[in-house]
Amino acid sequence: MSQIGEKPAEISIDEFRSRQNRLLSQLRPDDLLVICPNVESNRSNDVHYPYRSSSDMLYLSGWKDPESIMTAHHDGESWVVTLFVQPKDTLKEIWEGRREGVEGALNGWPIDSAHSIEDLSTIFSEMVSKANRVLVRSGINTAVDVMVKDAIERRDRARQQFGNGPISIEDPSAKIAELRLRKSDAEIAQMRHVSQISSLAHEISMRHSAVGRKEYQLQSVIEGFFSYAGTSGWAYPSIVGCGENATILHYTVNDDTCEDGDIILIDAGAEYNGYAADITRSWPINGKFTEAQKEIYQLVLDAQLAAIDECRVGRPYNAPHEAARRVLAEGLIELGVITQSLDDALCMENGQLKKWYMHNTGHWIGLDVHDVGIYKPNGEPRLLEEGMCLTVEPGLYFGAWRPDVECPKRYADIGMRIEDDILVTSKGPDVLTKDCPKTISDLESLIGKDFE
Ligand code: GLY
Ligand code: MN
Ligand code: MN
Repeated sequence: MSQIGEKPAEISIDEFRSRQNRLLSQLRPDDLLVICPNVESNRSNDVHYPYRSSSDMLYLSGWKDPESIMTAHHDGESWVVTLFVQPKDTLKEIWEGRREGVEGALNGWPIDSAHSIEDLSTIFSEMVSKANRVLVRSGINTAVDVMVKDAIERRDRARQQFGNGPISIEDPSAKIAELRLRKSDAEIAQMRHVSQISSLAHEISMRHSAVGRKEYQLQSVIEGFFSYAGTSGWAYPSIVGCGENATILHYTVNDDTCEDGDIILIDAGAEYNGYAADITRSWPINGKFTEAQKEIYQLVLDAQLAAIDECRVGRPYNAPHEAARRVLAEGLIELGVITQSLDDALCMENGQLKKWYMHNTGHWIGLDVHDVGIYKPNGEPRLLEEGMCLTVEPGLYFGAWRPDVECPKRYADIGMRIEDDILVTSKGPDVLTKDCPKTISDLESLIGKDFE
């Protein structure tokens, strides 16, 4: 059984400040930066979805509460980072929970000033009146969009006083994404922690596996452990599919019964301090791979190991994908599933590989499970650098239910994906999720077995 290490240290104030400085150093003193997180979303009647702030807000301030906006403006001497927050309100706090308020925000957060969100419009208008460019991501918070537009219009109406034309709006997301792409030591510690917890959660569900289990029962032991271990829960809705459900890439119904002979595919990861893990494992629910299941599983595993080996400094971001595709195509030719030459099988237009392997081999991971960062800056594949984190997740899906292909009988309804999260280091790939069992012998030794 793997162990979960100590909780990592919180991200320090100094680190948040250094993130802010790296962004602000790219701006001009007459810029106004506005970080505007998601608004709370209604679920039904008076119930909201659990609030999760946007990752850019978490990255730059660590501030998690709803109804908050961060700004940065230059006062002529230095940048001033301001947080607008929900004010203290005893009645609201009695019903909805404690609030930090303006005083709390000023005490121990990486900011220079704080105001009530109720004063946003007035103060914001004043800030815009001094800016020549507003950096804000529009389309997230309608109230802020309207306020920015109004403030700019007011400013434009008075432009004769300022002596210059209308001010521009730009999206700062790409600049922030570029920073988020390279993880610091403190971020890696969070990701290692959530990876360990998620790995152990998968192991628990392997041990809980048995013919007759409901998919939602396996889901519940995984997600229950996410909570038990102190995470904020899942980083994305868990995919728990047995039998033919395992061949549906984003299956989330999770209400079927696991039958003897089924493969169960579980794609689930927790979120800790905003950081995601993303793990997929596939195993026979009865604890023993059939020969046909072994053939496919070992092929996917070989493809995954070849892809992980490409997660090295200086390699193009898509090298893992190309490595995985090649191994899968070679293997399927050997198994008689693909009847084309290797080159033809790999062809994106008519190649047979994409019938059984139809997704990419990975994505950046960090504060978002599908994390930000341009894959092809200037049209060229990005080269991997130390500190980048990506998933490696090849799979094969033989859905006998599909009308668009003739599924090989031997592999009917086998769906398998193996997914780990990789940190690129100068010493080579560091598999953050390495504690999650994945060899055939390791899986067979623990499926359905209690912890010793
Ligand atoms: N869990 C979604 C993905 O693997 O990308
Ligand atoms: Mn993934
Ligand atoms: Mn996944």
